[in-house]
Amino acid sequence: MWQALQHAAWVEAIATSRGLYGLFLVVHYCGLFSCVGAIVVLDLSILGVANRHQPLSALVRQLRPWTWVGFGSSVGSGFLLFTTKAGSYVTATPFLVKLFIVVLAVVAALIVERRVSTWDQAPALPLPATVLALLSIVLWLAAILAAVEVPALTGLG
Ligand code: HEM
Repeated sequence: MWQALQHAAWVEAIATSRGLYGLFLVVHYCGLFSCVGAIVVLDLSILGVANRHQPLSALVRQLRPWTWVGFGSSVGSGFLLFTTKAGSYVTATPFLVKLFIVVLAVVAALIVERRVSTWDQAPALPLPATVLALLSIVLWLAAILAAVEVPALTGLG
């Protein structure tokens, strides 16, 4: 299946066009800067390092479009990049590790988004909030490190 996808005419058009491939790579980077940047700003606010002058739920409302439009464009462009060597990526452990860590990081981001309104009501920020914010930052760093290791360890990309 992955080999068939990799050799589809529309995929080979991407793979052989430096312009198209480059465009999707730029979209991939911009998407992850927007997504990871917005999530880390929220996490740093939870840790009290940034943004102390507004409730977390207000900050989440401002950052939500950057987070999820960024994520959506990273996933969409990432899939298109992936199709060009799908047969190799699906067996590349660093790539599978990257995707697994991205899923964990997204789950952490969704839990934070759902909990901030409760945390805003609390007299003091509960320990799970601090732990989740720290875990979220570590997971996104790990996702980016795993992504950078893909070409280094497999020669793909
Ligand atoms: C939002 C989560 C994601 C993050 C933070 C992320 C991060 C990165 C980074 C940092 C690179 C550059 C690695 C390098 O060349 O040194 C990269 C490349 C790549 N990503 Fe992602 N990525 C994400 C989601 C995805 C998804 C969902 C897919 C596929 C389904 C994907 C597929 C790829 C591919 C194929 C490349 C290699 C492109 C190339 O170097 O030619 N990414 N990603």
